[in-house]
Amino acid sequence: MTDLFSDLSMRDRTARNRVMVSPMCQYSCPDQDGLATEWHRQHLESRAVGGAGIVMTEATAVRPDGRISTDDLGLWSDAHVDALEPITAFCEESGALSGVQLAHAGHKGSKRPPWEDSVPVGPTGDGWVAPSPSADAYPWREGDDERSDDADVKHVETMSTTDVEALVDDFANAAARADDAGFDVVEVHAAHGYLLHQFLSPVTNRREDRYGGSFEARTRVVREVCTAVRDAVPDEKPVFVRFSATDWLPDRDSWTVDDTAALAADLASHGVVDLVDVSAGGLHPNQQLPEMGPNYQVQYAERVREAVGGDALVGAVGGITTPEQADALVRNDRADLAIVGRQHLRDPYFALHAAQTLDREDAVEWPRQYRKAV
Ligand SMILES: Cc1cc2nc3c(=O)[nH]c(=O)nc-3n(C[C@H](O)[C@H](O)[C@H](O)COP(=O)(O)O)c2cc1C
Repeated sequence: MTDLFSDLSMRDRTARNRVMVSPMCQYSCPDQDGLATEWHRQHLESRAVGGAGIVMTEATAVRPDGRISTDDLGLWSDAHVDALEPITAFCEESGALSGVQLAHAGHKGSKRPPWEDSVPVGPTGDGWVAPSPSADAYPWREGDDERSDDADVKHVETMSTTDVEALVDDFANAAARADDAGFDVVEVHAAHGYLLHQFLSPVTNRREDRYGGSFEARTRVVREVCTAVRDAVPDEKPVFVRFSATDWLPDRDSWTVDDTAALAADLASHGVVDLVDVSAGGLHPNQQLPEMGPNYQVQYAERVREAVGGDALVGAVGGITTPEQADALVRNDRADLAIVGRQHLRDPYFALHAAQTLDREDAVEWPRQYRKAV
């Protein structure tokens, strides 16, 4: 019987269990240079010590204008590789696979961190011109679909076709650097209303070139990015993609669970991705949020898992807080991987504690330095 503490093999990599630390922005590059700091080391390494099978970084920008906030992590130069390398080395020493989530924020970027109220910043200050599939679709006032001139100081510009082609190269280059830094897994962030999701959804993509219009055209950049990332990463390392399964905008033409299932099945059947990480929402302020209770997004992971039919693994995320819940997802064949976010902020040792709770202590080793406490 496969359970939470069964190995998870992907290509030439094996995670020691089915728990992944969900990507979570730390907004902790105060020099605004995207270089990993002591905070990132402490944060990620302590979760590797805590027993997780895979430790995934936060959204890591493929280039400076891909950051969400001025203080986000990046991977656009060799200096970024050097700053991240000690983290991947420590994860390996601790028995965890390390993953990096490669991202571009698109028109949601160019802000200060949340503890400064995420205030928008313009290119004449600390910010930048934020690229968008369709700048006229952003920003919105609450309840309004159209651009509001007085909305903020941010500058958003529509990307040219050549800009989109360059974006594909930026993801590929960052993936190659991720490999240099020693990451075992590369995840493409195509969720939560950031740039790749902005291309997928007809709500934010009003383009008339080959990257807009039909489902085929709107999904083109994601297919190109995932393929370029796959090609940039050695065969033995897995590639993940994170989708928002739905825009949660049921009353309008938007990105739906069926769309996600179709795109995931296409990528999986061509061997482009090894795991689909299924989240939801984040595109539009008028999204109709469901009750955010336990397992609130798991139904979408199940739908995607059915669609990929064994061509790729599927991870579920959202409201997974207890060992029993995470274990049941795997045992009941609802998902291959339990992706745990906020509970890992509360408890860096979630996986070790889960093994105790589930009577599976045989399956994990506490760090030898801590064994006297077990
Ligand atoms: C502080 C914080 C930062 C986050 N940053 C990211 C991110 O960088 N990339 C991403 O895909 N999701 C991000 N998320 C979403 C989480 O990865 C996760 O999908 C969400 O919190 C739901 O899972 P949970 O209920 O286990 O927390 C973030 C969530 C939190 C709480």
